Amino acid sequence: MTRIYVLHENDEWTVRLTQELEALELPYEVWHLAAGSMSLDANPPEGVFFSRMSASAHTRGHRYSPEFTMGLLSWLEAHGRVVVNGTRALQLEISKVQQYLALQRAGIRTPRTVAVLGRDALLAAAASFAPAPFITKHNRAGKGLGVQLFHSLDALREYLYGPLYDPPADGIWLLQEYIRAPEPYIIRCEFVGGRFLYAVRVDTSQGFELCPADACQIGDMFCPVGEDARVRPKFEILDSFDPDVIRSYERFLEANGVRVAGIESIVDERGVRYTYDINTNTNYNSQAEQVAGKNGMRAVALYLGGLLARAYPDAVTSALPTA
Ligand SMILES: Nc1ncnc2c1ncn2[C@@H]1O[C@H](COP(=O)(O)OP(=O)(O)O)[C@@H](O)[C@H]1O
Ligand SMILES: [Mg+2]
Repeated sequence: MTRIYVLHENDEWTVRLTQELEALELPYEVWHLAAGSMSLDANPPEGVFFSRMSASAHTRGHRYSPEFTMGLLSWLEAHGRVVVNGTRALQLEISKVQQYLALQRAGIRTPRTVAVLGRDALLAAAASFAPAPFITKHNRAGKGLGVQLFHSLDALREYLYGPLYDPPADGIWLLQEYIRAPEPYIIRCEFVGGRFLYAVRVDTSQGFELCPADACQIGDMFCPVGEDARVRPKFEILDSFDPDVIRSYERFLEANGVRVAGIESIVDERGVRYTYDINTNTNYNSQAEQVAGKNGMRAVALYLGGLLARAYPDAVTSALPTA
């Protein structure tokens, strides 16, 4: 049967979407790609395919799911299927190097970054950042993997050759200039169907202030799925956001065939905005959405339903609301 196919490797991040698809009475099927197979001589089923493959799949024991999904999406695209967040989106998802090159190409400012293979090469590259503080992060990341703030080369050396060393999944480290925000927050802009949905302000004070030593592990703190019970909400949806920035992001997404994404940026003391993370497997914070009366997953379900209705009018029997 013709339907919406959701490709992913994490049930926890998929349930809100399937709830919305059910509420809209849309036909769907979930492909959990911890394992899978595809017959290259056969035609894929008819339908709309939405990839939610994640850069952090390896942290859930699914080290090769992104690679398999890349093949699967290529197969679907080769057969002309409707694919939302296809091979190009996945390329960006699993490599910040690809993200930054694509952002720069779209005229969007990124932090000064050096990509490095090898620990000694990382130390050598870091020498050019000293004495200013710098950030390290994994090229294939998500969930803040490998994101640490260092104030000295010695601290970096200690970490790299110490017991806490955690190598990146693809071996590639990024060394990045530290953007010091006057207030501790970042902005994440959400897009569905390539169009701006809302901007959410994410409080980052805990991330750096809890730092007990030179090296500051950020860990899962920036994953918007986590709930936080502090007085001030960690996630706050803004009433409005800079229209020029929104337009530049929409153009970037269009140029790269990305339909659903969350784009993160920081503004420094001089008011200069740096864009440093594209999440094509985006999650929405339900507390913040409740306060603001927004529903990201509903918007995604409606978007997928609209695509299904357009490509296969007979597949959709329910009347979809317009917003
Ligand atoms: N260059 C930077 N300067 C200051 N803070 C940063 C920088 N890069 C990342 N951060 C902080 O670390 C968090 C995680 O980094 P990010 O690049 O988004 O990695 P991930 O893809 O794992 O989410 C960001 O949300 C931000 O708060
Ligand atoms: Mg991020």
